[in-house]
Amino acid sequence: MECASAVILAAGKGKRTGLPYPKVLHPLCGKPMIQWVVETISQSLVPHEIIIVIPPEYKADFSRLLTGPITFVTQPEPLGTGHALQTALHKSNQKKGTVFVACGDTPLLSSDICQTMFSFHRQNKSDVTLLTTNVPDPAGYGRVVRNPKRRIQKIVEERDASPKEKVITEINAGTYCFERNALETALPNLTQKNVQHEYYLTDCIAWLIGRRKKVSVFPIVHWEAALGVNNLKQMAEADKYLNLRLIEKHQSNGVYFTDPATVYLDSDVQIGSGTTIHPFTFLENGAKIGTQCKIGPSAQIIASTIGHGTSVQMSIVDQSDIADRCVVGPFAYLRPGTQLQSGVRVGDFVEVKKSCIGPGSKVPHLSYIGDAEIGANVNIGAGTITCNYDGKEKHKTVIEDGAFIGSNTNLIAPLRIGKKAITGAGSVVRHDVAAGTVVAGVPAEIIKKREEIHGG
Ligand code: UD1
Ligand code: MG
Repeated sequence: MECASAVILAAGKGKRTGLPYPKVLHPLCGKPMIQWVVETISQSLVPHEIIIVIPPEYKADFSRLLTGPITFVTQPEPLGTGHALQTALHKSNQKKGTVFVACGDTPLLSSDICQTMFSFHRQNKSDVTLLTTNVPDPAGYGRVVRNPKRRIQKIVEERDASPKEKVITEINAGTYCFERNALETALPNLTQKNVQHEYYLTDCIAWLIGRRKKVSVFPIVHWEAALGVNNLKQMAEADKYLNLRLIEKHQSNGVYFTDPATVYLDSDVQIGSGTTIHPFTFLENGAKIGTQCKIGPSAQIIASTIGHGTSVQMSIVDQSDIADRCVVGPFAYLRPGTQLQSGVRVGDFVEVKKSCIGPGSKVPHLSYIGDAEIGANVNIGAGTITCNYDGKEKHKTVIEDGAFIGSNTNLIAPLRIGKKAITGAGSVVRHDVAAGTVVAGVPAEIIKKREEIHGG
């Protein structure tokens, strides 16, 4: 199967969305809409060249987002899809063969559809094949007008359609296979004689039929795959369907979603088998979840790694690294740079920032841990605060293995609490505490030294 060229049309202003930037740059499940289309086409058809038609003022944005062997062609004015394709062909290095054309605003187009449609086109030896489907609400789409023998006659755009044509529910998906020579004869004949004064690519169909060229229709059953995004209502629909598609992929890999409709995944998320995802959970920006975890309800995990057998309940985990068998939440906020080693428990109303908490340690309630390094098997009592900021600079707190920090302790950084040291409830600790020492009070004073604890 050889696809000579793929052209993706993405130079429209997207006025109907009301966005201040091109709609095709808007992210869906964490990935710009145009990238969904580009990846689908490049992976399924492996074309010799990929040309994307873009608006001139956004060239830098497109080239930053889309890397690889892509030719960007700017369309000076959005004069219509026909004009956009013609602009693309001027920059094409391929001079014959099949040109696959898609719109940048149809992100649900699947690899399977691209491949089967392309094979169908080649097997039929058609000059053009267009993708169509029946939609529940055809408003806004080009309608496929057929004759009494059900043969395609033309495509008529919504704004040019008669009331009789408007009730047609078979729509043009904006995805086509064109034989290059047929396309090149048709394009120069397009005119702007329509309500929008645009060069409609869709007018090529009637023109080629008039010249007895072979025009085929490739209808698909699942209309969602052809969803075109022209407004933000359709944007949200596309987001929803892409999300469901991702969820189905994870389901087939052994991930259980108790309520898939309320879980939101980015496309680059990884989840291990045997993990359960509860409602109102957001997994974003490359979040990587291990096996047999319990995530949610109401968890947001952003650009973080979660080990195996860990649970995160009603909490936010951002740019953090959580090891195996940890328990996070409910109501914890793990900010960037947090590292929890195996078996750590961070409980309710605890905020951790840029800190490492060693294996088996617990911060069960109501604490702020910032710029800290906490060893193994440390217990941090409720209400403990690492006072890391003196108004000018951030300072570090180190708490060594086995220390016991009493409830409501204020740890004034920079500070080091030695191994198995103890701070009494309500202490304000301003000076380093040696290993095995007990301090208490405001300011904290030594109550017992190491020798007394260990009997000399
Ligand atoms: C287009 C089709 C319509 C089809 C629908 C499917 C035409 C005339 N109509 O309508 O039959 O049902 O898609 O979703 O083709 N673009 C450019 N340059 C332009 C104009 C548009 O590159 O001058 C790009 C847009 O960025 C967009 C795509 O082409 O990605 C389609 O344009 P859009 O304005 O969304 O066309 P529709 O009205 O949706
Ligand atoms: Mg559109």
